[in-house]
Amino acid sequence: MDRKHIIDDPEIGNKAEAFEAFDDIPTHENLSRTIGDVINARYGRRDVLRGMLGVSASAALFGGSTLVAPKAAAAGTAASRYDFQELTWGNDETHHVAEGYDADILLRWGDPITADAPEFDVMNQTAAAQLKQFGYNNDYVGFTPLNAEGTRGLLCVNHEYTNEEVMFPGLGRQDRAGFEGMTQELVEIEMAAHGGSVVEIARDANGKWAVVRDGAMNRRVTPLNTEMTIDGPAAGHPRMQTSADPSGTTVIGTINNCAGGMTPWGTWLMAEENFHGYFWTDAVTDEGKADLSGQAEAKQMKRYGVPGRWYAWGKYFDRFNIDKEPNEVNRFGWVVEVDPRDPSAKPVKHTALGRFRHEGAETTVSKSGHLVVYMGDDARFDYQYKYVSTGTVSDDPAMNSKLLSDGILYVARFDEDGTVSWLPLVHGTGPLTAENGFSSQADVLIDTRLAADALGATPMDRPEDAQPRGDGTAYIMLTNNSKRKEDQTDAANPRAKSNFGHIIEIKEQDGDHAAAQGSWSILVKCGDPAVAEVGAQWNPETSESGWFGSPDNCAFDADGRLWVSTDQGSKWGKTGKSDGLYAVETEGALRGHSKLFFRCPVGGELCGPYFAEGGKTLFLAVQHPGTDGTKALKGFERSSTFEDPATRWPDFNPAMPPRPSVVVVTKKDGGKIAL
Ligand code: FEO
Ligand code: CA
Repeated sequence: MDRKHIIDDPEIGNKAEAFEAFDDIPTHENLSRTIGDVINARYGRRDVLRGMLGVSASAALFGGSTLVAPKAAAAGTAASRYDFQELTWGNDETHHVAEGYDADILLRWGDPITADAPEFDVMNQTAAAQLKQFGYNNDYVGFTPLNAEGTRGLLCVNHEYTNEEVMFPGLGRQDRAGFEGMTQELVEIEMAAHGGSVVEIARDANGKWAVVRDGAMNRRVTPLNTEMTIDGPAAGHPRMQTSADPSGTTVIGTINNCAGGMTPWGTWLMAEENFHGYFWTDAVTDEGKADLSGQAEAKQMKRYGVPGRWYAWGKYFDRFNIDKEPNEVNRFGWVVEVDPRDPSAKPVKHTALGRFRHEGAETTVSKSGHLVVYMGDDARFDYQYKYVSTGTVSDDPAMNSKLLSDGILYVARFDEDGTVSWLPLVHGTGPLTAENGFSSQADVLIDTRLAADALGATPMDRPEDAQPRGDGTAYIMLTNNSKRKEDQTDAANPRAKSNFGHIIEIKEQDGDHAAAQGSWSILVKCGDPAVAEVGAQWNPETSESGWFGSPDNCAFDADGRLWVSTDQGSKWGKTGKSDGLYAVETEGALRGHSKLFFRCPVGGELCGPYFAEGGKTLFLAVQHPGTDGTKALKGFERSSTFEDPATRWPDFNPAMPPRPSVVVVTKKDGGKIAL
């Protein structure tokens, strides 16, 4: 489907669903591999399928115990490392957590976050009020403590996007209506609801987490009015210059901040994901497609899906119209660093980490002391990246911030023999030369996708969040790719028409996250293990409630255990399960076992997760509640609007639409979660 078909599709009822479908439009045209690659891939795969590979080779590909662990061996001998009673799967109007836990609403869209912020008035929204209130569609959640116990600190939350039809009264879906209902006033409210929030929170006298309204560091970061510095190899390059910023070093704001990360020195990384959707053109073909024939940068624009035209911002702000300001789009698609402790510090866009649809930016420190950042490019057939700093992490925050300005960006090639090779995106090496259109390192980074294409990286099934652990291991969430054809499968993306995704485990050589090579295996292939044609692969002890589809975000708790949250989009009807949080075993006889801990209200996706207070507190973000796939909700069976939503979670107030909200989970006995 292309943009027009998505907008016209009667099955796609609202902006959240359209977004999910837009995410699925591949822009990667270079899927044909060399004859040698194809022969290697085919023979490798056939051998695996026929059982011709030795045990060690197949174990390298699939991870031993998930393939071979017989049920009898697992039963009775292996204890789950996660001590909680599994929640039963389902889908209804509210959220649920495992028995023995509280899951309290901490922050909702519109909640005042500064001492002088007005109370939320959903019928009389203004940009000025929204700039002091919690933003829309909370995605990434991070936390940095302000006391030794970790009971007071700064919550850092990304606000990914806005859904106008459930956010504003009487408006309806605007992409389908040619944005006729939009005004500059509404666009400015949307812009003020994007970006991020820094909010001080603390345990109150009753031990409950609550917002500290007068916290001196509370603030919003938005695309409406937050000035940011551009640094790194692309800063100041002519392709980064605009009429408002002839120096190419300053930009207003950040958009579509999906997942992110917290650095070892306590700064917050906001990943800019679907930036292409905010750009407009008036040059449209008779078929309704953007006409890029007049654009000097048409090649890269096409590869990035620019302009997406999902919002009317370009009608009121020239910088979001590529006809008027074609370079502005080069100033988005980066990773932004924010110092949550210093409200006067300008956020920094770090071009050294590349320009793509950044899902997240989770960091770790390698054995040798280098900062390593794992990052996915969330689109079908796009790539997995990591960044390794030139310098090493120290006790000096000022020096540490430079680690994101100078380093090497790598893209992953997953070979059939279980090796992952990290290919450096360095100007002048291999094909990254002027003859191939890369005149400098700035070109390599602005056109990261084109450079990664040239290096022969492995096109993946939508790389979402990636989480490194200190021991040289990393987990890559591959959410789904129903567009992959049988002849495009490979060992690392083994299923055609993959509706449910899979998780890859990487073990870097010698446990060193800075290594140029490592080994990989598949931890789980998602979907219902009881349906043979799905081809799911779980530890056989996994229950009917425990398996899931579409892994998206992930986190480790204080004890190094993996937790995975899901985003099935409008397709949750294929599993019947609402999105949730699962405890996924990575070690021992239960490797590949999953248990349901929390589930969302209908139509919401689960973001976060983030463990704090030494594992006693867990922050979760419920994004776009009541919107995705509500035609599959029995008894409702229609698309949600402001006036008629599938749920009014979390307020259940007839005057309030559903509100994206952050939930805080604690154990009733005050102990560590799942221990
Ligand atoms: Fe914003 Fe890839 O989810
Ligand atoms: Ca995500």
